[in-house]
Amino acid sequence: MIETIAQCVQLLQNGEVVALPTETVYGLAARIDQPKSIQRIFELKQRPTNHPLIVHVANREQLEACVQRISPIEELLISAFWPGPLTILFQKSSTISDSITGGSEWVAVRMPAHDDFREIIEKLKIPLAAPSANAYQQLSPTSAEMVKFYLPGIGENIFDGGKTNYGLESTIVRVIDDTIHILRKGAISKEEIQQCIPIVAIKKSDSSSAKVPGNVYKHYSPRTPLSLFEFSPPVFHHDTTIGIISSQIDHQSLTPHFHWLDFDHLTLTASTLFETIYQFDQKGLKQIYIQKFPARGIGATVNDRLIKACR
Ligand code: TXA
Ligand code: MG
Repeated sequence: MIETIAQCVQLLQNGEVVALPTETVYGLAARIDQPKSIQRIFELKQRPTNHPLIVHVANREQLEACVQRISPIEELLISAFWPGPLTILFQKSSTISDSITGGSEWVAVRMPAHDDFREIIEKLKIPLAAPSANAYQQLSPTSAEMVKFYLPGIGENIFDGGKTNYGLESTIVRVIDDTIHILRKGAISKEEIQQCIPIVAIKKSDSSSAKVPGNVYKHYSPRTPLSLFEFSPPVFHHDTTIGIISSQIDHQSLTPHFHWLDFDHLTLTASTLFETIYQFDQKGLKQIYIQKFPARGIGATVNDRLIKACR
């Protein structure tokens, strides 16, 4: 395990790939100027190379080096949400290689709100490309332990910064013709964006775009089969082989493997959801049933993830 920020910076300096926490989920990071390390990220994740990586910057100067221009609406988004879990697509500059964008002219950039992560980028003086630190289509890790479980290939190159804050990946947007398009739902809800920038239209984008792998058909999946239910799981007797994750406390009588969801505090509940599913994934159950979240605010992001995780 990586013990200190200095050690982490050194490893990245040497071109190694490391798993480290952001405020959303753990990322699998490498310097954007090291093609071999970028390639290693794809290998470790077993991710198709046409699925681009998010570039993480620590300051304005680094952003400007990565992109061609910043529009007024993008400026508004930056001042409202950075540092934080909002990723914005810009036209890339020549600093950004095709291997990072999967050949696209667009680069996804965000400034993470995680002190250690930002300090590491500041010290390195080079932005970091980082997808979530899970194998392709699996559950995104919100703790160092989850990284170890879902991405054993990373070995000891994990910086343990405890549990991540949001527990859901960043929201990805692109501004086209003065409209904000949400390409991936995430830790910042559509309502929050609307509230901060009420004059600008917001659209949901075509969610079948395979270039945003968060949008591919199957994703975020635990190893145990997972099913969504709306009101009650299809379980009629006490059953020790199933798990139930539900807002209704009376479902507790159906299994010893029960986790209660607090729907009065959606953001907090969402932040530990991947972790809870991971814990249930350790139990060797036949099936996990999980209740759909109310569709408001962050609940919309969670449902988007759960539908893909059930496939
Ligand atoms: O919160 C997060 O966003 C985390 C942390 C580590 O920052 N990162 C993350 O990365 O979730 P990843 O690779 O698991 O998901 C990034 C998504 C992918 O669906 C990818 O296709 C999309 O962003 N993306 C990245 N660059 C893009 C680009 N140039 N054009 C379109 N989509 C892009
Ligand atoms: Mg991911």
